Amino acid sequence: TFPKRFVVAIDGPAAAGKGTISRALAARYGFAHLDTGLLYRATGLKALRDGHGTIDAPVAIAAARALRPEDLTADGLRTGPVGEAASVVAAIPEVRQALLDFQRAFAAQPSGAVLDGRDIGTVICPDADVKLFVTASDAVRARRRHAELAKSNPAITLEEVAGDLARRDARDAQRTDAPLKPADDALLLDTTELTIDAAIAEAAALITRKREG
Ligand code: DC
Repeated sequence: TFPKRFVVAIDGPAAAGKGTISRALAARYGFAHLDTGLLYRATGLKALRDGHGTIDAPVAIAAARALRPEDLTADGLRTGPVGEAASVVAAIPEVRQALLDFQRAFAAQPSGAVLDGRDIGTVICPDADVKLFVTASDAVRARRRHAELAKSNPAITLEEVAGDLARRDARDAQRTDAPLKPADDALLLDTTELTIDAAIAEAAALITRKREG
């Protein structure tokens, strides 16, 4: 059995496979799972609405402070424009601060927890039992995200998706507060060649080793 509060931190750029890996590990070990990108997406969506289509820092900060758990299941969070808005509000330190306690409390659940995002291993849960940094080539990530977005928007082009991803990754990696980067003690999983199942198997082996050792 797991010690209480076993925490798995999974970080990486957009469309690298974090979500699929996190959900599989949560199902396998009975961990609660939080896709922390949803917090920034829900904040971005609210900020866009309250700001009538533009993002203004005070409005975004108020939106983050007013966020409720039910906002994380709203329609429209997975669209391209909301992903872009999420990345913009995520660069505002007060927004990140407002979302911190919720994430730490989530990680403290007795069931154990998997959190995926950009700064879980570096800022949110620096003491996580297992840290993974999941990457894939730009081309592979663009193809995966395009396939996902094309389900609801058949007109979207691969070039458009690739451009959006590149811009978002650059913003996420270059911001001053909690930029996207691997924790020093994270296991790097490159899913360019590795199938998602193989990546899950590697991650599971690490969790099992950690639990027994
Ligand atoms: O994982 P995602 O694409 O749903 O994340 C949307 C945006 O939210 C991403 O571009 C950056 C931001 N984000 C963040 O800054 N920190 C996190 N832990 C998760 C997401």
